Amino acid sequence: MRCTARLLLRLIPVVGLVAGMGRMAVAQERPSGMTRLPEAKVAYLLNCGGCHGEAGRSSPALVPDLKSQVGYFLCTPEGRNYLVRLPNVAFSHLSSSSLTVLMNFMVFDMGEGSAPAGAKPYTVAEVDRLRREPLQMGNFMAYRQKTVAGVVRACPAAAKVSSFAADDPYVLANRR
Ligand code: HEC
Repeated sequence: MRCTARLLLRLIPVVGLVAGMGRMAVAQERPSGMTRLPEAKVAYLLNCGGCHGEAGRSSPALVPDLKSQVGYFLCTPEGRNYLVRLPNVAFSHLSSSSLTVLMNFMVFDMGEGSAPAGAKPYTVAEVDRLRREPLQMGNFMAYRQKTVAGVVRACPAAAKVSSFAADDPYVLANRR
C-alpha cells in the first residue's frame, strides 16, 4: 500500500509534465492573435504568387503585373474569357469552385477598382466552362495584343496594361 502511494507520488510530476506538454502543443497550433489568411489569398500565393509576386507585382517585362490593372480585362467579354483560358489558370490544380474564388479575389481585390463598374463576379459554371477551352495559338502575344486593344477601346484607362513585354519583337513591330 505504502509502495503504491510512493509510486503515485513519483508519477504526479510526470503526469503533470505530460499534461503541460499537451497544453503547449495546443497553444503552438494557434497562437493568440494569429490571423488566418483568406482561402483566396492562400490559393493565390501557392499557385500564382511565385511568378506574379506576393502582391501581384512582378517584373512586367517578363510576367504581367496584376495589381490595380487585371480588372480592366472585364471591360470586354473576350478579355473576361481570356483571364480564365490562360494555360496557367485553366490548368491549375484547383477545383473550379476554388479557382472561381481565386479569380474574383484577383480581379476585384488585387485589381483594386480596375474592373469596370457593374462587372459581375465569375460564377463557378462560367469558370468551369472556360477552363475547358484553354488558349491554344501559335502566337500568344498577337492574341494578347488584340485582346488588350479591344479592352483599351472599351476602357481607355486600361492603356497601362500594355506595359507587359514591351520589348517583345512582336509588340515592337505592331506598336499602335
Ligand atoms: C510559371 C509562372 C506563372 C504561374 C505559376 C502563373 N502565371 Fe500567370 N502568367 C505568367 C506569364 C509568363 C504570363 C504571360 C502570358 C504567358 O506567357 O503565358 C501570365 C499571364 C497571366 C495573366 C494575364 C495578364 C495580362 O496582362 O495579360 C493573368 C491574369 C494571370 N497570368 C493569372 C495567373 C493566375 C491566377 C495564376 C495562378 C492560378 C497564374 N497566373 C500562375 C506566369 C505565371
